[in-house]
Amino acid sequence: METMSPAREAGGRAGLNLIAPLSILNNSMVKLFITGGAGFIGSAFIRLALAEIPGCHVVNFDALTYAGNLDNLSGIDQSRHRFVRGDICDREAVGAVLAEGADAIINFAAESHVDRSIASADEFLRTNILGTQVLLDAARAAGVRRFVQVSTDEVMGSLPEDDNTFFTEASPFEPNSPYSASKAAAEHLVRAAHHTFGLDTVVTRCGNNYGPRQFPEKFLPLMLSNAMRDESIPLYGDGRNVRDWIYVEDHCRAILMVLQKGRTGEAYNVGARNERRNIEVAQSVLTALGKPHTLIRHVKDRPGHDRRYAIDPTKIETELGWRPHETWETGLQKTIQWYADNDEWVARARSGDYREYYAKQYGTEAGAN
Ligand SMILES: NC(=O)c1ccc[n+]([C@@H]2O[C@H](COP(=O)([O-])OP(=O)(O)OC[C@H]3O[C@@H](n4cnc5c(N)ncnc54)[C@H](O)[C@@H]3O)[C@@H](O)[C@H]2O)c1
Repeated sequence: METMSPAREAGGRAGLNLIAPLSILNNSMVKLFITGGAGFIGSAFIRLALAEIPGCHVVNFDALTYAGNLDNLSGIDQSRHRFVRGDICDREAVGAVLAEGADAIINFAAESHVDRSIASADEFLRTNILGTQVLLDAARAAGVRRFVQVSTDEVMGSLPEDDNTFFTEASPFEPNSPYSASKAAAEHLVRAAHHTFGLDTVVTRCGNNYGPRQFPEKFLPLMLSNAMRDESIPLYGDGRNVRDWIYVEDHCRAILMVLQKGRTGEAYNVGARNERRNIEVAQSVLTALGKPHTLIRHVKDRPGHDRRYAIDPTKIETELGWRPHETWETGLQKTIQWYADNDEWVARARSGDYREYYAKQYGTEAGAN
């Protein structure tokens, strides 16, 4: 006797695809359950969603790890934003908040720094993999209409240098760091929840984000905050690694579009066609700040350092009509201006845990040359 998989019983993938593109953003009242909303990209997304969708209410579920910062949410309309401190691995806590209702989950919460994953992978496996599964289960139980997984181009590994190849949605998964491996595993779980249980899921895979409020252990804010203090800029290896840079708000607009119009079960690459070598990025920052390029200090390369990421965003451009608003020059200028205007934020972020981590990673104290 032929047995039916749960997905077929529930209408199956083909059945789900018959559902019209999600129009929840057109509703006067839409409730988004956002995880990791006190971090860099999550907080930018909350700002954008509240500004763009007048009826939008956000529950921001964040554990406030070293990377989570409630300062990132200052100035937003708090009457439409509720912060809940919680861990996405905590089934009970997630279930209790979702039981109050949510139209969609957007999962930003993650351990996100490659270097930290090389030092120890434990938290990456816990939050990025187990946490994603907890959210998927809770989404099904609560009848959430759409699940958006914010993923990364790093799941596709590294491209050869100086050739003309790009990551497409069909590129194979070849993650090279514990971070990217954990994000790849999370994506597989999202795919499985869609295929097996018929959960409406969409995935975005983006390149290197830059912009306001990025924790200063990451490459660009590290360079900016060091250079502004006339401190040296540590650059891994020969500095010729290529990354595909995108202004954070452009990434958030892409997530909003995918939430609204993305095809169920699909992944969308998000990139601004902006490949840069790390050394070029360092030089642009120093030039823009009027600082000497001699501040660049080459340090021992990261183990397994991916050489090149380059995203082909044709699918999101043609299917959803997404385009970045910022060029590299305008985005960088806005970023530099924000860091110049928010020295107190930087000083607070650079204190505590960050200093200890920095000394271990680069062999000097944060604040020393
Ligand atoms: N930064 C990038 O360039 C980039 C590029 C592509 C994709 N992404 C993805 O985007 C997402 C957000 O990245 P980001 O740069 O804003 O990261 P971030 O490190 O700045 O923020 C992560 C947030 O998640 C929270 N968090 C961590 N563990 C948690 C847990 N167990 N439960 C609840 N909250 C938890 C932290 O407190 C923090 O607020 C991540 O999923 C990352 O993989 C980032």
